[in-house]
Amino acid sequence: MGGERSLPSGYNPIERGNIMNMKKRVTVPEVIAAKGKRKLTMMTAYDYPMALLVDQSDIDMILVGDSLAMVVLGHEDTLSVGMEEMLHHTLAVSRGAKRALVVGDMPFMSYQASIEQAVLNAGRFLKEARAQAVKLEGGVRVVPQIKAMVEAQIPVQGHIGLTPQSLAQFGGFKVQGKTAEAAKVLIEDAQALADAGCFSIVLEGIPTPIATMITEAVPIPTIGIGAGPHCDGQVLVIHDVLGLFDRFTPRFVKRYAQLGTLIKEALTQYREEVENGSFPGPEHTFSMDDEEVAKLGGAGRKKSSTAKARK
Ligand code: KIV
Repeated sequence: MGGERSLPSGYNPIERGNIMNMKKRVTVPEVIAAKGKRKLTMMTAYDYPMALLVDQSDIDMILVGDSLAMVVLGHEDTLSVGMEEMLHHTLAVSRGAKRALVVGDMPFMSYQASIEQAVLNAGRFLKEARAQAVKLEGGVRVVPQIKAMVEAQIPVQGHIGLTPQSLAQFGGFKVQGKTAEAAKVLIEDAQALADAGCFSIVLEGIPTPIATMITEAVPIPTIGIGAGPHCDGQVLVIHDVLGLFDRFTPRFVKRYAQLGTLIKEALTQYREEVENGSFPGPEHTFSMDDEEVAKLGGAGRKKSSTAKARK
């Protein structure tokens, strides 16, 4: 021991080249600098394989949204998901996302009760789940929490408008800011989030003219979902985009694929092939020398000698 340093086993210089060619991760300052220059893209993901696919699509940010509760865990709304579940899924996403900036969504009651609890929980997303930022819902009322997080060097994305954690308060999933009075509150909220140090703000379910006014008023990027085309970027829930969740589809969703249908077709074909014996075929099975089978008294001989299987 203690002699020359050897290369780790499995080290492959060609792969090292690949590592050096790897794309650089999108950073918080880059997101802020994109305002007015190029449109930003954000998509949700909740596990490693989807994170890989989103990352490989060069989408700027991956949001591990608390929509996890509904589209992955089957809850009625987003209120039931907790810190441990969010951290578990965020860590899986972080393992897959090498380029996209990963934003962990703070679940209901992880930041409302106290500033201290809010900072500690936000810190867990960076420290334990390896996210680069957190998101939380609310305007002026969560400014003290946001200031404390930013002070603790935790980048924060705000979220106002139709914030699903306020479902009980709103009396349902309803577009917000439809009167001049309500719109003024949203504009003040957005300004307060920017002043508190947020690096961007999600605008959800608000009329296009209000989203446009907010986008023009704040110096940080706005990321719209149901907030019209003039936001600085857009975000959608991946299960909506890919046709994997059909309990309801909000008006603002565009479905880019019908994977649910494709998956059902594939699974039906699998079931039928197992039932009619056409799967597994010879190419999916392993053979054994006939003499060896004979030593066992012939059991399995028929299968072994008929199948042109892989040894
Ligand atoms: O939880 C989520 O997916 C979200 C997006 C809809 C912005 O908050």
